[in-house]
Order: sequence, then structure tokens, then C-alpha cells
Amino acid sequence: MDAIRVTDGIYWVGAIDWNIRSFHGYTTPRGSTYNAFLITGEKNILIDTVKRPFYEEMLSRISSIIDPAKIDIIISNHTEMDHSSSLPMIQELTGATVLASRLGVEGLRLHYPELRTEMVADGQEIRAGGKTLKFIDTPMLHWPDSMFTYVEEDKVLFSMDAFGQHYATSKRFNDEVDQDELFQEAAKYYANIILPFNARVRQTIEKAKEIDIQILATSHGVIWRKDLGKILQLYSEWAASRTEEKAVVVYDTMWNSTRIMAEEIAEGITSRGVEVVVLKLTDNDRSEVMKEVLDARAVIVGTPTLNNNMYPSVADMVYYMRGLRPTGRFGAVFGSYGWAGGAAKAVHELMQSGGLEMPFEPYQIRYVPHEEERRKCREMGQRIGDRIKEMSAAKG
Ligand code: FEO
Repeated sequence: MDAIRVTDGIYWVGAIDWNIRSFHGYTTPRGSTYNAFLITGEKNILIDTVKRPFYEEMLSRISSIIDPAKIDIIISNHTEMDHSSSLPMIQELTGATVLASRLGVEGLRLHYPELRTEMVADGQEIRAGGKTLKFIDTPMLHWPDSMFTYVEEDKVLFSMDAFGQHYATSKRFNDEVDQDELFQEAAKYYANIILPFNARVRQTIEKAKEIDIQILATSHGVIWRKDLGKILQLYSEWAASRTEEKAVVVYDTMWNSTRIMAEEIAEGITSRGVEVVVLKLTDNDRSEVMKEVLDARAVIVGTPTLNNNMYPSVADMVYYMRGLRPTGRFGAVFGSYGWAGGAAKAVHELMQSGGLEMPFEPYQIRYVPHEEERRKCREMGQRIGDRIKEMSAAKG
């Protein structure tokens, strides 16, 4: 397999995982890539590796440029195993030391006790192979150990997970692929991986303004080499919790009562001129829901009560969402119950504990919504729509 030239002396030597469909709980219908990069010169440098089953693919791509044994330095920008699990094998082959941030060294020792590592500090520069490499700590993007590596001469920023997409394609650059697919995947990736670290993204974007970036070489999906301003602007907006006049109504249902409520609430929201997306959890997985939540101003959750508890698919979704902390939005809860309620209140409390504002009391009905209950659902939707509009007015 061949390496792909990124710029003079810098090559993509990663792997394409065409068939991965779940990435720790995030569905990846378009697969993913693990991007590793080779810098050649007086010294040969490997930046990150690939998931262990793809080691041979990486080696084959490196071999199309140099003898892999001639790698002098390995840089690990991020300890997570999709990028680090080939480190022991490539170190055994090359004898090269692995450079990582302070927490990277600590994390790598815990993962691979035999690995020889050396710490590089935030802001430290090294000269190697005719290039100047600068290390920039970016903790929590996506783990505490994360760092960027910047090559000054070529203005290439190796940004590991940041700006990634789970997107397998035979193309390697952002200007070569379908733009709608690309930005859908970039948004889904942000919503499911980066969202809890909005504050860190804001700090990182401030740091990034100090450097001239021509190529943004992320660890997943395509490399950004054209119109970088667009993805940087989107990251700024997502990190600032910028939302649209949009609500997501997400629910599950046992005997259609909660479905009817969801549809009436959606109708009420729509009547106020607000966009609504309605998703039933049996047919939509949690990571797709989060993609819709990313630019939504309200998340409205419907749950039936099952055995005095919230419905399992709703519990899954709400716990997942709580971890991702989509703050700067508000939520509301509704649902049907038979003889003892409680599910809607439990969902309400969980959403509140995840940082959502919860201005409405949960609306629960017994068994089946008839005309009066349907009307109340529509009114609830109208109040939600009004609140979304008021938030726009407040922002000016
Ligand atoms: Fe792609 Fe956080 O690893």
C-alpha cells in the first residue's frame, strides 16, 4: 500500500477502517480512519500510529517511502489506543524513542510498561530532519494527555482527535469529498467526542490563532487543506454552544401514547415557526440524536414508565447525553404511565444534572392521550417554541 503525500517530505501513512460500525458506543456508518504521518529528512519522524490490527497496513505505507526501520523519532500526540496500540511494535522494529506530553508519558507507561518514552513540554521545540517541531499541550482534546505537534516550515498542525471525522474514504483531503457528508460527519464527531470539552476548545482556538496553519492534519477522516476557516469557525460556534431556532423531540413508546404526545408537542413547536426534529429511539441511535442536539436550543424527551422506571432506551440516551453535557440549551420531559409514574421526573432530574436548564415541569398522562391531553401537549410545544424564540430575541 502507498503513502499519500501531504506536502514536501510529509506523508500520510495511516489506515482506513472501512467496516467499523461502532466506536465506543458511537455508530460509525461511514467507518473511520486512523491517520499516522511520516516526516522524512535527515531524521525520519513518525507522528502517531494506528489501531493494532492495522499495523501491517501502516508499515506497508511507510515502506513505500522509506525502510520503516529507519524511523528515528516517534511522536505520540494522544494515548488512546486507536492511535497508540501499534507503538510497542514500531518501537521494537525501529528502536526509536516515543516523545509525548507529561501526561502522555504517564498514560503510555500505564498502557505499555515496556515502552521507552521521553517527555516534551508545552511550547518545546525540537529541530529534526530539517524541520522545527513545536509541541502544544491541548489537555482534554480528547484525553488529558493530548497535544498538538506543529511543523513551522510547512505550517502543518497535527491536531490528533480535534477536527476529526469518523469517515472512511479513498480520498485523503477535505476538498476531494462530498462536502455535505464531510460536515455531517464533522458535526457528529464534535457532538459525540468533543462536546464535553467546549471550554478547552475555546482555549485551543485562541492558541491556534497565534500560529499560521496551512494544513490541519487530524487523526480521523480527511486532512483539511482548503478553506480551513470554515471548520475553525464551526468549532468556535459549537464550542460557544451556538444554537439555532430548533428543537429535538426524542422519545420511545410502548403502546403509542408517548408517540402521540411527541407528535403533538412537535406540532405545537412547529406552529411557532421553530424547526423540529422528531426521533424515536428504537429507530435512531444515541449518537445520531446527539448530532441533532448539537445545534438545537431545546431537547424534549419522552419516556413511557416501565416497572416504575424510565424506559430502557430513554435511560441509555439520557445517561449518554448527560456525559456529553450539552449546556446552553434547555430541556423538557413528557410521557405516559399506567398506575405509577415516576419515569418522567427521573429523566427530568438526570437532564438537569447534565447541565440543561429545565424550566418546565414534566408533563405526564395516564395511559392514553385523548383530546384534552393532546391539546395540552400542543400547548406545551407552543410554550417551548415561544421560549426558543425569546432566546433569539434576548441574543439580539
Ligand atoms: Fe481517536 Fe481519543 O482517540
